[in-house]
Amino acid sequence: MTETSPPDLQDMRAAGQTMRTAGLALLRWYADAGVDEAIGLEAAALYAAEAPAPAAVLEMPQGKPISLRPRTKKTDEEAAEEKNTQLKTDAAALAASCTSLEELREALQGFEAKSHFPAARNLVFADGNPEAPLMLIGEAPGEQEDRQGKPFVGRSGQLLDKMLAAIGRNRTSVYITNILPWRPLSNRTPTLQEGLIFLPFLKRHMELVGPKLTMTLGGSSSKLLLDTNQGIMRLRGQWGEFDTGSLKVPLLPTLHPAYLLRNPLAKREAWADLLNMKQRLDAIASD
Ligand code: URA
Repeated sequence: MTETSPPDLQDMRAAGQTMRTAGLALLRWYADAGVDEAIGLEAAALYAAEAPAPAAVLEMPQGKPISLRPRTKKTDEEAAEEKNTQLKTDAAALAASCTSLEELREALQGFEAKSHFPAARNLVFADGNPEAPLMLIGEAPGEQEDRQGKPFVGRSGQLLDKMLAAIGRNRTSVYITNILPWRPLSNRTPTLQEGLIFLPFLKRHMELVGPKLTMTLGGSSSKLLLDTNQGIMRLRGQWGEFDTGSLKVPLLPTLHPAYLLRNPLAKREAWADLLNMKQRLDAIASD
């Protein structure tokens, strides 16, 4: 039960309690008495005629009033999460309404999440042949791609072209896109949240193109499409499946060309993955 008058801070201090313990005891007394907000260092003399107000409500070491009111204001984190959820819902509705690649491109162009990418100048939608049996999925545009509005046209793209040539393919016999259509600031790796926001567009993209097989380039797209936390070194070379909800496409993850530029010795693994893909493509062609 609450005592009828607040404990005296001076007495508690004199009895050897620290400022913190004494302050907390005083706060607890006020909270038990139903006080839910401290609005000043001096108590308001609401009934001054009947009873003089106590000298101090609460003096904390910093001398700042403390609110006991339960917090109702959203934290930045909560607000960002709410915003992301809204973007994902909007993306799903918008993507589902697209019935052609042109509509999808326009939908992406107008989608509000573009504001996350202040460095981006041009939408990077896709390149290659939408009739091709193989769809390649990279990460996000870099500077050259942003400039030209086409995926994989910079240094990574030149290596990708050589990798494709090694299995007898080029941009007329594959279709290429990325998980993000906008260039992230300073070419940073896309966050999982960004990937998830644009995932409905990628799924719709895949449904509209309808490839027989898909190959993810690097960790970001492989993890996103396979919905896993496993690293690319574990994922690469193992067939999985990308399920859009209405279409299931066999998927083979491999290493990103940018990684191969930095780690040329890893080209051996990428080469094994390309041969793996070639065998499957040849088998489909001869069916
Ligand atoms: N890296 C990617 O993942 N995509 C591009 O389009 C260019 C570089």
